[in-house]
Amino acid sequence: MSGTERQFDLSAAAWDSSYGGRDPDGHRVTSRLDAAVELVGPGPGAVLDVGAGSGRLLATLAERGWTVSGVDVAPEMIELARARIPGAADRLTVARAEELPFDERAFDVVVIIGVLEYTAVAAAVAELARVLRSGGRALVGLHSCKAPATVWRNRVVVPVARRVKRLVPFGRAIPAGRAVGLDDASRALEAAGLKVERVVPVGAQIIPDPLDRFAPRLAYRVGRRAERSPRLRRVFATQRLIVARKR
Ligand SMILES: C[S@@+](CC[C@H](N)C(=O)[O-])C[C@H]1O[C@@H](n2cnc3c(N)ncnc32)[C@H](O)[C@@H]1O
Repeated sequence: MSGTERQFDLSAAAWDSSYGGRDPDGHRVTSRLDAAVELVGPGPGAVLDVGAGSGRLLATLAERGWTVSGVDVAPEMIELARARIPGAADRLTVARAEELPFDERAFDVVVIIGVLEYTAVAAAVAELARVLRSGGRALVGLHSCKAPATVWRNRVVVPVARRVKRLVPFGRAIPAGRAVGLDDASRALEAAGLKVERVVPVGAQIIPDPLDRFAPRLAYRVGRRAERSPRLRRVFATQRLIVARKR
């Protein structure tokens, strides 16, 4: 495991609990989960979540009639996912996005959200295309590099926080992902034989880091409100969900 992968393993419980928070992190992860559930739609069918984390999305999809499978590189994440969805425990496995342990065309839908940034992108996209049936859909979630809150965070907040954490270790380690642009991801999907059908903005953040940390409930409420306005969502979305179909 790389250093970043180990960080995900060590912080699995903290990652999982971010879903319950009425704070900015809670808003970001919940808004993209809700949008993903809508975009995948009701089952039946076979769905794979690559980098499934603690299984939050898969648990909701299982309730909506899907036969769910998931992989993650972090064993602790897979343990949490198995505890959350005991009926799917033998389909939740430790594996890498770049080397999926499934047959060709095994799934109707493949989801990979908040994960490509930590992978070898071309290899991970080629693998998701391989296990997807013809006509099947991929749902790819990326951080939006151009959102005002993201630009501010990446250029100012993260470099400062890394320096401070080196001197005084506190809180969760900051995962060292690379930005993956919408164009780069779309090109990788097209090269792997998928056609991009839609790009949906999610996770509007108006109050920037670290101000949002001082008034987390207010930041949560403002984010939720902005999420309901298509125009605010487009401008302030911190993430994008790409829907692509295998030719
Ligand atoms: C930001 S979390 C997102 C988790 C989940 N998709 C969600 O939205 O709740 C990223 C996840 O990707 C996993 N991951 C990172 N690199 C991976 C790789 N190469 N293959 C599979 N999983 C990976 C991490 O262990 C972590 O669980």
